[in-house]
Amino acid sequence: MTKTHVSTTVNGDPSEFLCEPGETLLDVLRNQLQLTGTKEGCGSGDCGACSVTINGRLVCSCLVLGVEAEGVKIETVEGIGSKDKLHVIQEKFLEHAALQCGICTPGLIVSTKALLEENPDPTEEEARYYLAGNLCRCTGYDTIIRAVLDAADTMKKEADK
Ligand code: FES
Ligand code: FES
Repeated sequence: MTKTHVSTTVNGDPSEFLCEPGETLLDVLRNQLQLTGTKEGCGSGDCGACSVTINGRLVCSCLVLGVEAEGVKIETVEGIGSKDKLHVIQEKFLEHAALQCGICTPGLIVSTKALLEENPDPTEEEARYYLAGNLCRCTGYDTIIRAVLDAADTMKKEADK
């Protein structure tokens, strides 16, 4: 089958790939661009493990075709923090032990960043509602929500300095 050439931007860097018409962005990220931080849980838009942003909008990359990435700006978990300097959200997930197996964690980090960009001061209810599309079978969610609210608090204090 003829492949399509796609030019896009991933985590601030120009990126190009060839993909089949039906190939998902999730598969392109993981298998072609080696950005394996983005996980596949369900492959059907139900679990949020594959969350990335496209032009700042939170999406499930398993529901986006690779060809739809033409000309857009994608952010994956690899674009948030670095090995040497974690993002505050990542630090708070560690501090609050908000992960166990870790499969849901990259998606939750991406979704939490999107939440705090939209709403820097969420209530617990707002945070739970926003993150309802990110399923976690391990933690029971309480530690995750504590980490999210603590990250919001810390980021607000940093912004006010
Ligand atoms: S893998 Fe995309 S929502 Fe589950
Ligand atoms: S830590 Fe295992 S699914 Fe969330």
